[in-house]
Amino acid sequence: MSGGAAEVVELRPHTPASLEALLRWKNDTEIRRLSDGGTHSFTREEVAATLERWMRPSHGTVHLAIGLAGRAEPIGFLHLALIERAHRRCRLGIVIGEKDLWGRGHGRTAVVQAVDHAFDVLGLDRITAEVFADNPRSVRMLEGAGFVREGVMRESVQRDGRRVDELIFGLLRHEWAGAGGDRDRRR
Ligand SMILES: CC(C)(COP(=O)(O)OP(=O)(O)OC[C@H]1O[C@@H](n2cnc3c(N)ncnc32)[C@H](O)[C@@H]1OP(=O)(O)O)[C@@H](O)C(=O)NCCC(=O)NCCS
Repeated sequence: MSGGAAEVVELRPHTPASLEALLRWKNDTEIRRLSDGGTHSFTREEVAATLERWMRPSHGTVHLAIGLAGRAEPIGFLHLALIERAHRRCRLGIVIGEKDLWGRGHGRTAVVQAVDHAFDVLGLDRITAEVFADNPRSVRMLEGAGFVREGVMRESVQRDGRRVDELIFGLLRHEWAGAGGDRDRRR
């Protein structure tokens, strides 16, 4: 599936203009269920405080909005978190908040751009991503971006009254470089 020539994915710094969208996404039951498994709802003040934090420079995390060229409002967000300089590694998290845009390749394109940033700009060697086992869209997106399934944390989280497995995915700098910087995964 392709996003089409008119839809160019961009990673951008967050701005206060992200607030309304973020408030909506943070309180979307389906997004919460698939991303962090949380259930409690967020107030505007809480989300504003989160956004404020995401806009501040941090050594440990890079927070970015996912946008489409020519569209002011973001369509999602991602982060490279738990950046450990000593081990040159981090953990990737991503949400495409606009659900009508799911399945168009935007997630994968954003991940590819974030991987470039992690390896080329931050100089990291490894990126980890953790995904609930019942999130096939995210699994497919990560595999499409070159991530390798490395293992499973059995019954890792409590959700909807049952334990759910989490899958561990990893991507190494030399795999990425070996794929020619993964140029053909960009859309
Ligand atoms: C996961 C998420 C970021 C993916 O973004 P996206 O833009 O929808 O992803 P893409 O379109 O790049 O890739 C999705 C892939 O899954 C496939 N897919 C879609 N629905 C699917 C399903 N029900 N089962 C299996 N695969 C599916 C698509 O065909 C596509 O694969 P392809 O490129 O090989 O055709 C987005 O759906 C999202 O934000 N979901 C809610 C939050 C979340 O799950 N975050 C990730 C937590 S780890």
